[in-house]
Amino acid sequence: MNATLPFTGPWLLAPMEGVTDPAFRDLVLERNDPRQLGGAFTEFVRVVAAPRTPREIRRHLGPRRFPMPVGVQLMGGDIACLTASARSATEAGAPLVDLNFGCPAKGALKSCAGSAVLRDPAALEDIVAACVRVVEGAVPVTAKIRAGFDDAERVEELARAAEAGGAALLTVHCRTKAENYCAAVDWTRIERAVASTRIPVCGNGGVASHADLERMRSETGCAYVMVGHAAMGDPWIFSGRTVSAAEAATFLVEYVDAMRRLKHADLRGATARVKQLLKNWTAGGLVADEEDRGTWMRERDPAALLARLEARGSRRGPGGEVEPPSTTPLPQAAHGLGE
Ligand SMILES: Cc1cc2nc3c(=O)[nH]c(=O)nc-3n(C[C@H](O)[C@H](O)[C@H](O)COP(=O)(O)O)c2cc1C
Repeated sequence: MNATLPFTGPWLLAPMEGVTDPAFRDLVLERNDPRQLGGAFTEFVRVVAAPRTPREIRRHLGPRRFPMPVGVQLMGGDIACLTASARSATEAGAPLVDLNFGCPAKGALKSCAGSAVLRDPAALEDIVAACVRVVEGAVPVTAKIRAGFDDAERVEELARAAEAGGAALLTVHCRTKAENYCAAVDWTRIERAVASTRIPVCGNGGVASHADLERMRSETGCAYVMVGHAAMGDPWIFSGRTVSAAEAATFLVEYVDAMRRLKHADLRGATARVKQLLKNWTAGGLVADEEDRGTWMRERDPAALLARLEARGSRRGPGGEVEPPSTTPLPQAAHGLGE
C-alpha cells in the first residue's frame, strides 16, 4: 500500500546534487506560492556500503519546514542498505522517499545504482517494491528514471516496472543516460510513459520558462512537471513572477549567507556556489548580457563579488518591506569591475 502524494501544487524543484541542499532549496521554497511550487527534493543521498542514519537524513532535510514537502532522494544498488535508509528517512520525518534511477555518473554505474538500473526493469521493480514494503505505507515511495540507458525503446517497460513495484509517482527525465544533459529533448517519451501506466507521471527535461511548465503538461498528459537547470537561473520560474534585479541580487546575497550559516562554508566556497548559478542566471535582468555575465564570472575576489551583489540588492526595511537598492556606486577598489 502506498501513501498519498503530499505535493501542494503541480510544479516541482528537481533534486540536484551540489545545488538543492537546504541553503538553496529553502530560498526557492520561500519565494514561490505553494499552490504552484508543490514540492522539492534533497540532492541524492548516496547509499553505498552502509545504510544512512536518521541523523544523516535530517541534515539533508535541513532545519526549516514549508507548506511544500521535501522528499528525500536515495540512490544505491544494494537493496538491504537502501531499504534500511528508506526506514531512516521515515524516522527522520521525511514526507516522501524518492529513488534515483537516473544518475549517469561513473561511480553510480560501478555500484549498479542510478541509471545502471535502467538496463534491468525487473531490478528496478524489486528495488521499488522492497522500499515500499519497508516504509509500510507511512510515506509514498516514488521513482525517478531517465527515458532509458542507451535509447528510449523501453520507457514503457520501465514505467510499468515502477508501477508494479508500487511507486506512487514516476518522474521521467526524458533524456536517456547516453544523452547525458544534451540540449535537445523529446517530450513524446514522457507522453509514452503517461500512456503506459496508471500512476501519476512527473515530466522532466528541458523546461526553460514558466510557460513551458503548462506546455509540457498539456503536450504529454503528465500530472506534475519538474524543473532543474532553469530553476538555478530563475528561482521564481514556478510562479512565473518577473522580479527586479534588486530581488535577484538579494537572493544571491541570502544564498551566500545561508551557505555560511548552514554549511559553514567560507566566503570563497559560498561565492563559488553563487557563480555556479550566475553561469546561467536569467532572473531580474541582473546579468544584462553575455558580456556582463563574463564580468561576473571573472571576478576572482569573493568579497568584491559579494559587495557587488549587495550593492545591487534590495534592503529590508524595519517592517520587512523591500527597499530599493542603494544607488551609491561602490568604490572602484571594492569591486574592481569598472562598473
Ligand atoms: C547540477 C545537477 C545535479 C543533479 N543532481 C541530481 C540528483 O541528485 N538526483 C537526480 O535525480 N537528478 C539530478 N540531476 C538531474 C535533474 O534532477 C533533472 O532530472 C535534469 O537536470 C533534467 O531537468 P532539466 O532539463 O530541467 O535540468 C541533476 C542535474 C543537475 C544539473
